[in-house]
Amino acid sequence: MTGGVNSRMDHANIKEGQNPLAGRGLVDSRISVRLLVASSNPGKLREFRALSASDPNDLAINIDLLSGFDQLAPFDESAPTFAENAAGKALYYSGFAQEPVVADDSGLVVPALDGAPGVHSARYAGPHASDAERVGKLLRELRATGNGDRRARFVCVIALARYGQAWCVLSAVAEGEILDEPRGAGGFGYDPIFYFPPLKKTFAEMSGEEKNLHSHRGKAFRKLRDFLLSSPRL
Ligand code: IMP
Repeated sequence: MTGGVNSRMDHANIKEGQNPLAGRGLVDSRISVRLLVASSNPGKLREFRALSASDPNDLAINIDLLSGFDQLAPFDESAPTFAENAAGKALYYSGFAQEPVVADDSGLVVPALDGAPGVHSARYAGPHASDAERVGKLLRELRATGNGDRRARFVCVIALARYGQAWCVLSAVAEGEILDEPRGAGGFGYDPIFYFPPLKKTFAEMSGEEKNLHSHRGKAFRKLRDFLLSSPRL
C-alpha cells in the first residue's frame, strides 16, 4: 500500500465527530483516498469537492487539484467520444503524479442538433468564448432547426489512473430539456438552459446538493466511490 491510497487502519484523514468510533479507543474502519483532479474548470472542481465532502459512509475521498496542472502541456481532447477523452486525460496526467489522478470529460448532447455540442461542449462557440456565448449559440442553433424536440442529456465520463495505468472508466447521464431562455444563477456552463423535469428547475436553479444528487457528474462520482470501496487496490 503506497502514497495516497491508505489502508483501512489509516485514519489520519478522519476528523473528530465524523467517525462514530472516535474517542472510544476503537479502530476506525473508514477508508481514506486522496485523488488528484486534472481539470482547470473551477465549476467541476467545486462540484468534485462538494461530492467528496458529502459522503457520510465508509470512504473519505480527499480531492486536490493536480499540482502544477496549469503549467503542463495540455492533453489534446480531440477524440470523438467522452470516454476516450476522459481516459486519455487521466492516463496522461497520471504520468506527472505520485497519487491516483481523476479526470472527467463531460458535455451536453442535444438530439435535435445531431448530438452537438457533445464532446465539443467546452469549445462550442470558439476557444475563448464565455458560458453565455456558448448558451446563446446553442439557443440560436436550436431555434434555427425549427424542430420542437427540446430533449437534452448531460453526459459525464470519469476515469481514474495511476502511473499511466487505467483503473476504471465510469459514466452517467442526466436527462432534461432545453429551455428557450436561461433561468437561474447557480452552477456553470449550460446549467441555466438545462431544465430537469422531476424537480421543475434548471440545474442553475438548484442548490449545490440538489444538482449533485441528480447530475451526470454526481451519479458518475458515486459510481467512482463504489468502485473505490470494492477495489482490491485499497
Ligand atoms: P470538458 O469536460 O472540460 O471538455 O468540458 C465540458 C464542458 O461541458 C464544460 O465546459 C461545460 O460547458 C459543459 N458541461 C459539462 N458539465 C456541465 C455541467 O454540469 N453543467 C453545465 N455545463 C456542463
